[in-house]
Amino acid sequence: MARHFLKLSDYTRDELDSLFRLTRELKEKQRKGVSHRLLDGKTVALIFEKSSTRTRVSFEVGVFQLGGHGLFISSGTSQMGRGEPIKDTARVMARYCDGVMIRTFGQEIVEEFAAYSTVPVINGLTDLFHPCQIMADLFTVIEAKGDYEGLTFAWVGDGNNMANTWIEAAAIFGFELRLACPQGYEPDRQVLAWARERGARLLLTTNPREAVRDADVLNTDVWASMGQEQEQAARAKAFAGYQLDEALLDDAKGNCMVLHCLPAHRGEEISDAVIEGPHSAVWDEAENRLHIQKAIMATLMG
Ligand code: CP
Ligand code: NVA
Repeated sequence: MARHFLKLSDYTRDELDSLFRLTRELKEKQRKGVSHRLLDGKTVALIFEKSSTRTRVSFEVGVFQLGGHGLFISSGTSQMGRGEPIKDTARVMARYCDGVMIRTFGQEIVEEFAAYSTVPVINGLTDLFHPCQIMADLFTVIEAKGDYEGLTFAWVGDGNNMANTWIEAAAIFGFELRLACPQGYEPDRQVLAWARERGARLLLTTNPREAVRDADVLNTDVWASMGQEQEQAARAKAFAGYQLDEALLDDAKGNCMVLHCLPAHRGEEISDAVIEGPHSAVWDEAENRLHIQKAIMATLMG
């Protein structure tokens, strides 16, 4: 049976740590121009039901660097957009391709896709989780700080797919995670309950200052995610006071790092000064999507 990458909680800490090691190795090889064609002659379908810049480009480039071929498929121009059942698409794709990455809405869609797929399926973002992104983020932290162990992570903003995935990561890796979300915009209840049951060190507050106090890693994301565009105005009101700006940064550790998965809305969830400032690691973070996803694809499909 194929092994999939649908959410972090399907993996052990040891397995995810070994992905970080392979990522370091592949990044080094790519930098030095050393061949690493671990997917030689293989084809990976990249299915998008939502927009993307980083995920599309990093997967396409990644599979190419591994010696394979990435096939971009947008739901709007395929039969998926006309209602062909997920389970039918999944079985057909598996007859052509060696792996699939899918970006879609409900987590149940990737779960159903994977249940019918005989080749590995990777979650490229759902409304619930964004596991490739948090792996890239953690890899960026490891590169900058040497380890994630002993660090305090802060999340400021919406309790969205990114926040949910950070919660899974906190439970798996054991670091402290403090989340500041406005009332009514908290992370997923089931994910929180699962993490708390596993003994995750979580603090959930409505006060951004409490979350960032002496934190090592600060993280935020858009206030309205893809699919929530019509809530933009209401959300802008609800999230007033939740901007990751220089005043908030003053409460964190002097050598803190700032992450944002991008795309960013300067002047909303993050100030221009912070995203462009000395603590920002967002470009390394975006680059690391490429390297971590190569490790994930090579491990699952190689
Ligand atoms: N961070 C991220 O997933 O970016 P895209 O939406 O551009 O893929
Ligand atoms: N939370 C954002 C992340 C984009 C990469 C969204 O789902 O739109």
